Amino acid sequence: HPGFRGVIAVDGPSGSGKSSVCRAVARQLGLRYLDTGAMYRAVTWAALDRGVDLADRRAVATLCRALVLDITTDPASPGIAVDGVDVTGAIRQTRISESVSAIATNLDVRADLIARQQAILAEEKGPGIIAEGRDITTVVAPDADVRLLLTADENARIARRARELHGTDDADALAATHAQVATRDKRDSTVVDFLAAADGVVEIDTSALTFDQVVATVLRVVSETAGAG
Ligand code: DC
Repeated sequence: HPGFRGVIAVDGPSGSGKSSVCRAVARQLGLRYLDTGAMYRAVTWAALDRGVDLADRRAVATLCRALVLDITTDPASPGIAVDGVDVTGAIRQTRISESVSAIATNLDVRADLIARQQAILAEEKGPGIIAEGRDITTVVAPDADVRLLLTADENARIARRARELHGTDDADALAATHAQVATRDKRDSTVVDFLAAADGVVEIDTSALTFDQVVATVLRVVSETAGAG
């Protein structure tokens, strides 16, 4: 539905493939793209960079509120800068992935980032935007035009992560990835429930689908939901 303008909200756990799917959908529909996880990762990078104790919730929240976060919403070249420093590559490091839950479970940080995300959505609503994370369908944009939850069973998610991190899903890579995925899901889901679809949210189980099939399914739901009018 190339004429779509508005907001598409997408949630799902890590390994559901939602980042690449959302970018592809954004490019096909000519929409902006917002990766909210990158914002939690950027705050984590800044806290580590400045030597702020991640367990000190007030200190981390104070740091967060003072940061200039510049996130690009171009799906062809996603990027994020913290106080003018490009951290697009750095936020994908393992040390960030391992520490980001401490930031994502800080409710004062969440309040600040949610407000920033809502401001970006308001700004880009005209051209249209697809935003992805864990709480977009429920908290950031509960009134989005299209709300989707991408799920995948644990084995499918571990296999995808293994291929991302190790370039293979052989037994060793699966074993190394298993604990990481399970631990992160458990920590992440203490604050937001992204494993069950909220009322009115369309759930897409991607376990048995190829990347292209997931993209096609999302595009179909968008045209059915938003294209009806
Ligand atoms: O999607 P990701 O792996 O880049 O997310 C990084 C972390 O941020 C992960 O621990 C989940 C958390 N997150 C969140 O709590 N809420 C969001 N809207 C997006 C990400």
